[in-house]
Amino acid sequence: MALESLSKEETLAMRKRLIGQSCRLFYSDKPVKIVRARGQYLFDEKGKRYLDCISNVHHVGHCHPSITEAAAAQMELLNTNSRFLHDNIVIYANRLASTLPSQLRVFYFVNSGSEANDLALRLAQQYTGNEDVVVLDHAYHGHLKSLIDISPYKFRKLAGQKEWVHVAPLPDTYRGLYGEDHPDPGQAYADTVRDLIEEVHKKGRKISAFFAESFPSVGGQIILPKGYSPKVAEYVRSAGGIFVADEVQTGFGRSGSHFWAFEQQGEGFSPDIVTMGKPMGNGHPLACVATTEEIAKAFTDNGVEYFNTFGGNPVSCAIGLALLDVIEREDLRGNATRVGTHLKNLLRKLQASTSSDWRCQIFIFRGVGLFVGAELVTDREKKTPATKTASLLVKRLKEEDRICVSTDGPWENVVKFKPPMCFSMDDAELVVNCIDRILTDMEQNGPELEKDNV
Ligand SMILES: Cc1ncc(COP(=O)(O)O)c(C=O)c1O
Repeated sequence: MALESLSKEETLAMRKRLIGQSCRLFYSDKPVKIVRARGQYLFDEKGKRYLDCISNVHHVGHCHPSITEAAAAQMELLNTNSRFLHDNIVIYANRLASTLPSQLRVFYFVNSGSEANDLALRLAQQYTGNEDVVVLDHAYHGHLKSLIDISPYKFRKLAGQKEWVHVAPLPDTYRGLYGEDHPDPGQAYADTVRDLIEEVHKKGRKISAFFAESFPSVGGQIILPKGYSPKVAEYVRSAGGIFVADEVQTGFGRSGSHFWAFEQQGEGFSPDIVTMGKPMGNGHPLACVATTEEIAKAFTDNGVEYFNTFGGNPVSCAIGLALLDVIEREDLRGNATRVGTHLKNLLRKLQASTSSDWRCQIFIFRGVGLFVGAELVTDREKKTPATKTASLLVKRLKEEDRICVSTDGPWENVVKFKPPMCFSMDDAELVVNCIDRILTDMEQNGPELEKDNV
């Protein structure tokens, strides 16, 4: 039986029976069945169109014809495992190298962001001879056991914190220890990492790596304060560790102005390892670790082969190359800058137009390019997270306007926008108009909004 012939109810029933229930669906109480997609639009089994504001994986647009053609052409010709000599992997590595600082010249191709971060962990531990890792609070780095261990977002709900993992404060200038009003929040937050490293040393332990997303996503679409990463890198390196930038969500031009989000931290700053994934294959499982020759050499010198059956196969690399071409040809970084700026301007207008007696207001929004978060609070002074309101807003945007957004942040009150990079000015206007209409309706007609849910 062809899968398309299943009714939505049948699909749901089979999914419930056959697929592990911890693999949750979007809108789990009323899921959407998507059968095709194009650009920034998803279509359900009845042909209804949804605007996709969250698929950062489908970076240059769903089912982009150039990506599909490159995949099909290479698939028809050859797909081997990565141990046969082939042009695609070296041509692709060379293209990626041209986007990165000159010291990041060695590449390992893998199949997911989790595999990339797991390998980064191994590289760091092998190179430094140390074990301990510093991570940011609320971080998520992947689903493998090794990464659950370094993801406070997960380990807090599971086995807890391992003795070799150390959690630094999230440099969130809205809710964190130091706000925008601090004279130098980048330095102040970096100093919390320095202090943490001193604590680690007092326990007789040594740092192998500092891991951080270049814009912490699960933490609430956070933009790191200027100067933070170079300072942290200095402290970590002087303690014998290395700096790992997790660009799994943020790489490939999402910030618009730069190809990699870590570049926002200033010219001359380079991590020692960059991990990448999600957008890299536009939905095809393609991910990578980029590092220095010294770190790669230490890994080689352990004498054990690194073998990854699918990583860097000819089809994956053909897709990766096609994606880089599309970003350039369609000026998607320029688009991310223009549309992201427009989206933020519209959110700013919406914020300015909210009356002061609103209990729920878009109090703050932040973002760079097409990485934008709008944080909902019930009280501007206390910054009380409006979690239920955010969840209701997400539900209503889907039900009433067929717009897909979702929430992030420790309280799930940050509405996030990470759409395909072909997102348009009209799309941005539509979303903000719908948010405006729903929030106004919620305020005027109820249901009763939460007063305090912290
Ligand atoms: C920042 C970050 N790193 C790593 C991962 C893991 O990537 P994957 O799901 O491809 O294994 C994710 C996934 O959401 C992520 O957000």
